[in-house]
Amino acid sequence: MSTFGLLKTVLPLAVVALLAPSAVAWNNGDIGKLPPMGFNTWNRFQCNINEQLIHDTAQQMKDKGFLDAGYKFINLDDCWLEKNRSADGHLVSDAKKFPSGLKNLTQYLKGLGFKAGIYEDQGTLTCANYPGSLDHELTDARDFVDWGFEYAKIDNCWHEPWKGTDQDRFKRWTDALTQVHQETGVWMYYSFVEWQSFDAYVWGKDIANTYRMYDDIQPEWSSIATILNNASFIGDRTNFWARSDLGMHPFNALKIVRLPSPLDMLENGNGQLTLAEQRSHFTAWALAKSPLLIGTDFSKLSAESAEILLNKEIIAINQDNVIGEPLKPFFWGKNPDKTWDPKYPAQYWSGYHVKDGKQHTVIMYINVNEQPVHLNFTLSRSPHLNGDKTYDVYDLWKHEIVGQAKGFYFADNIDTHDVRAYLFSEAAPSAPPSSTPPTSYPPPSSTPPPSYTPPPSYTPPSSYGPPPLSTPPSYGAPPSYGQPPSYGAPPSY
Ligand code: GAL
Repeated sequence: MSTFGLLKTVLPLAVVALLAPSAVAWNNGDIGKLPPMGFNTWNRFQCNINEQLIHDTAQQMKDKGFLDAGYKFINLDDCWLEKNRSADGHLVSDAKKFPSGLKNLTQYLKGLGFKAGIYEDQGTLTCANYPGSLDHELTDARDFVDWGFEYAKIDNCWHEPWKGTDQDRFKRWTDALTQVHQETGVWMYYSFVEWQSFDAYVWGKDIANTYRMYDDIQPEWSSIATILNNASFIGDRTNFWARSDLGMHPFNALKIVRLPSPLDMLENGNGQLTLAEQRSHFTAWALAKSPLLIGTDFSKLSAESAEILLNKEIIAINQDNVIGEPLKPFFWGKNPDKTWDPKYPAQYWSGYHVKDGKQHTVIMYINVNEQPVHLNFTLSRSPHLNGDKTYDVYDLWKHEIVGQAKGFYFADNIDTHDVRAYLFSEAAPSAPPSSTPPTSYPPPSSTPPPSYTPPPSYTPPSSYGPPPLSTPPSYGAPPSYGQPPSYGAPPSY
């Protein structure tokens, strides 16, 4: 072959190879595109679940505006099943808890406008010791779809008999769901649980819609801060993924597929979380593009807590159809940038949001300190802002424009553990010049506040990447690998 002939053959392939993303994301259609929103039984009810609870929850979610706000999934977690499979190898739902059966349950939910989700485990038992799905994936996937479920949460307990890799173990569910899709045309959303025990942030996108990136959440600020600290290091890896479509023009071929990284389910309404903490928890989860699965008792949810979960402007950013990247930290605030600190995670985060066809910058600030502090940053620190431009600043919790920013932005006295979320939009050229802040304002902070003292245990991460997997969480030990977590007394319902 002549040199020209060789080039003619090889060059297009080389171009395609260059444009092709390094890994192909799993694509199961629209159901996996945006972070799912809804309800999951575990955080509040654990094993104490039944048909009546699901009916009541669905009705309350509809009556209180949650369905309209986008909370569409109602997901059963562990303990919905009998302790043994049937003689022919099928999972059997607990007849005492669900006397009408699961098909009727999902039909009831669909009748109200919801979708239904279910739980299994990719080991020999679930975490609460019910039959697991290892080696039964196809049977279980077929049954789940037949029963009307559209979301599968697949847990990680009791997997020791499996001698292969974790990726191959969880991929068995990908394969089962793909086959069931071929048989029925139905795709299920696929979410698996990682417990930070393995490197799912590397391969999760290839096999699932979401993987949970940390241990079980607790209704305590320390748990929320710990998870947020982890989230600050994986924003680059876990949300948008490229897949090639060789039949298209190369530039259109760089389609993007989202892999939301669940920061675990929401604890709003549970424990002793203050309203400020609930606001921060919800804002951070939504803007990190995590699934938003509420895990509380709707019959006891206060109006103030409900209002937080129903903030339409925050939800719109979570559900942005154009921008899939999460907000990422651009300034740690209390700590030097990129510090790994489960108690004092990154405070200043930014990203884009497209609203009414226009791109805006979202800024989130979380006061992780134990006392009220001022918010103060130079705009040029954020890769999503231009230090030379003037911005209108819209407060996503007050739902109004609260001023303009040029050069820096300052807001005083943010309550302990409270949050600020703003949309920064370039001010129209005719807009009046930004008001100069009073001279008593502190100067724009480009360095940590003078009161900063590095925590004694601080060790810088080796690189800006995922945290060391061995780092223990600050609240109790994670469920031991293969052992079910202890449950304590389930709340009475
Ligand atoms: C845990 C999991 C929880 C819940 C529980 C059920 O491992 O992290 O979210 O699903 O199992 O037993």
